[in-house]
Amino acid sequence: MDPQELLSLCKRRGYLWPAYDIYGGVGGLYDYGPLGAALKTNIEDYWRKLYVLGEGFQEISCPVVAPEPVFKASGHLDAFSDMYVECLSCGETYRADHLAKGLHDNPAALGEAELGKLLKDSNVRCENCKGELTSPRRFNLMFKTSVGAGKGTVAYLRPETAQGMFVNFSQIYRHAREKLPVGAVQIGRAFRNEISPRQGLIRLREFNQMEAELFIHPETKTWPRFPKIRDVKLPLVPQTGKPLTMAVGEAVERGIIANQVLAYFVWLTYKFAVDIGLDPSRLRFRQHEKTEMAHYASDCWDLEADIGYGWTELVGVADRGSYDVQAHINHSAADLTAFERFDEPKEVEQEVVKVKFDSLGPLFKGNAKAVGEALAKLHPSAVKGRREVSVEVKGQKITVPSSCYEVSVRKEKVSGRKLVPHVIEPSYGVDRILYSLLDHAYTKKDDYVVLRLNGLVAPVKVGVFPLMAKDGLDSIALEIYESLSAAGIAAYYDDSGSIGRRYARMDEVGTPCCVTVDYDTKTDGSVTIRDRDSTEQLRIKKESVPKAVEALMSGATLKSLGEMK
Ligand code: GAP
Repeated sequence: MDPQELLSLCKRRGYLWPAYDIYGGVGGLYDYGPLGAALKTNIEDYWRKLYVLGEGFQEISCPVVAPEPVFKASGHLDAFSDMYVECLSCGETYRADHLAKGLHDNPAALGEAELGKLLKDSNVRCENCKGELTSPRRFNLMFKTSVGAGKGTVAYLRPETAQGMFVNFSQIYRHAREKLPVGAVQIGRAFRNEISPRQGLIRLREFNQMEAELFIHPETKTWPRFPKIRDVKLPLVPQTGKPLTMAVGEAVERGIIANQVLAYFVWLTYKFAVDIGLDPSRLRFRQHEKTEMAHYASDCWDLEADIGYGWTELVGVADRGSYDVQAHINHSAADLTAFERFDEPKEVEQEVVKVKFDSLGPLFKGNAKAVGEALAKLHPSAVKGRREVSVEVKGQKITVPSSCYEVSVRKEKVSGRKLVPHVIEPSYGVDRILYSLLDHAYTKKDDYVVLRLNGLVAPVKVGVFPLMAKDGLDSIALEIYESLSAAGIAAYYDDSGSIGRRYARMDEVGTPCCVTVDYDTKTDGSVTIRDRDSTEQLRIKKESVPKAVEALMSGATLKSLGEMK
């Protein structure tokens, strides 16, 4: 589907508008119009239903602004960058690896010097004015800001919602009565200062994510619900590059997907995508190449959709190991561990934080006991190799130098052990999913456009029309419209223009059915209900419209409604 044609429909019909258009707009920023905002809400609501109600994840909501140390720990400050080149004549900027597409198998994996040489040797010039380009330079994609007046404190807009869940692991774990596995989700905005985004909703500078972080025991990667889905076949493109359709169970047994938990959430992602109406024949899961995968991830699968921009990543499902939680333990010295209770107490050798009271006493005097207790509770990995750590005593942060503690090995009988959980992360991009839905739903025959959005996500479920806006037909139609609103069904009332035009407008925005009130309604109380995709019509009692629309939205057909009459 040609993106320009689809974006033009979206703009005309109130799905999407370029943001701040009257001031010339800003690349990578879009507004959702009334239909787009409703579609987005419906996608998010269904996702929430699957993850929060269906799988028991806890939904949280964290600020979009976060202080610098969060991103120092996560690695974003040092490594979240792309390379750009700038035209020496007109100043246009380009993502350097995008300009090298077709010149190398994987330009994103090249370093600055290699990429610069490749572009130079291939005589790549500015696409605008054919001017000469600079050598590639690194550009951190986070938006920097500061919190507070004066110098303030350095902060960044979050580039993913995930960090809010990692830093809150202890709270989430406690809320779950200290049991693993435990999952959290967050739906919200993320920000990336992308270099010259030119692909509509696919590459935005402010976008929406639905992310789940499942904290699991590092040695238990089985999943209780796995047997129920093991025979479901999925379209996979493993690292070999050869596409195959394989049952989830077989993919795990043959080591193609690393473990049951990861495979279960790959399946759940597929179920979500198909249920909301993405075309299964244009979906695939592509496994990350070894060079593409973060060094700490043991396996990662992207759900990709075939759309007007080519195969595009919508969701990433990754086994991130203990990397994220461990990174925040190392940088904050907080105890973000889970506790595993043994069946019987065991004698073990374990590392502990040993407090040196002879150094601590003179430094902290009356507070020394409380500081010592706080130190002893820290995880050894949180203090190892640090010149100082910070502990909280009576609500105050206190910095303690390394002369006051050491990590030593102690033999003791213990009832359990602390462990750093592993994380399985399904990370969904809402905007890309929404765009792909529109792309897959778009059909056109002789200039007649029908958007085949299904009842689960369609922003408007039913159009309500009086044949004429007179003779009392309009008041009956308005009564039906109000009965639908009272039942929580999004309806659209329209009494202007020919009936054909009104159907066409609803077809073009993806409304699955329409109800028309005509002169027969006045005599026998029946109305016509029309199905968008088959264009078939059925007469039903006007009082049964909300029930009939609800049934159609849940997958019933007009034929099955007719049989129930
Ligand atoms: N926490 C992991 C993470 O953020 P990611 O692959 O960088 O992983 C997850 O992002 C999803 O967010 C992607 O699959 C994509 O759908 C969406 N996404 C990422 N960058 C985006 C952008 N600039 N514009 C729109 N969506 C984006």
